[in-house]
Amino acid sequence: MFEVDGVIVGTKVVLRPKQIEDAPDDHRWRQDAELAELDAASVLRQGLDDFTHDLATEIKYPTPWVKRFGIDNLEGRHIGNCMAYDIDSISGQAEIGILVGERDHWDGGYGREAFKLLIDELFKTESMSRLYLHTLRWNARARRAFAGCGMREVGPDPRGGHDFILMEITRAEWGAQRQQEFQRTEETNSAD
Ligand SMILES: CC(C)(COP(=O)(O)OP(=O)(O)OC[C@H]1O[C@@H](n2cnc3c(N)ncnc32)[C@H](O)[C@@H]1OP(=O)(O)O)[C@@H](O)C(=O)NCCC(=O)NCCS
Repeated sequence: MFEVDGVIVGTKVVLRPKQIEDAPDDHRWRQDAELAELDAASVLRQGLDDFTHDLATEIKYPTPWVKRFGIDNLEGRHIGNCMAYDIDSISGQAEIGILVGERDHWDGGYGREAFKLLIDELFKTESMSRLYLHTLRWNARARRAFAGCGMREVGPDPRGGHDFILMEITRAEWGAQRQQEFQRTEETNSAD
């Protein structure tokens, strides 16, 4: 992984700042009933013009408590988004989320890598000590992808009539995981 001018490059995906050209994809994904259900969200009723206007405002006037990235594959196709929100720089905590909107990119490790890049970025550049998320109990794909990033299941956290599981990772846990990955890579390289 490397980073140039706010663009974070992995082996499968690139995280980059949100751009106005994302609006049609984002709008299409927000209107998708299956994606909404997987995210315990409602289907968006807003038209594309208003949606694009809101995205333009968000890009122009960023707030310190939200950080959003577009996810592109290495061919430059916009396949999803990931974000941190409710960023609390006093307590050092933030909720994180991800959407891979393009179904032909599910189950290929794209979401997992994008989320790891996001977690790494947040622990590196923000004064964060804990990142957490809520995912639906029955969303087995999401739970497995998040566990693969080192997120630990804390337990049930039902809210708004939804059966959520709370998952989290601390800065220390992330550091230990990175160290283990580094050691494994070193061992593989020295065995070659
Ligand atoms: C959840 C999401 C981000 C995961 O990204 P992804 O690129 O599809 O996931 P990955 O390929 O990195 O990992 C998915 C894992 O789940 C596994 N999986 C898929 N379906 C599964 C199921 N029904 N039961 C158990 N595991 C399943 C895959 O095999 C893979 O594990 P493996 O690589 O160890 O074999 C993405 O699928 C997505 O955005 N989905 C739609 C919206 C959503 O669910 N958002 C989450 C809201 S909290």
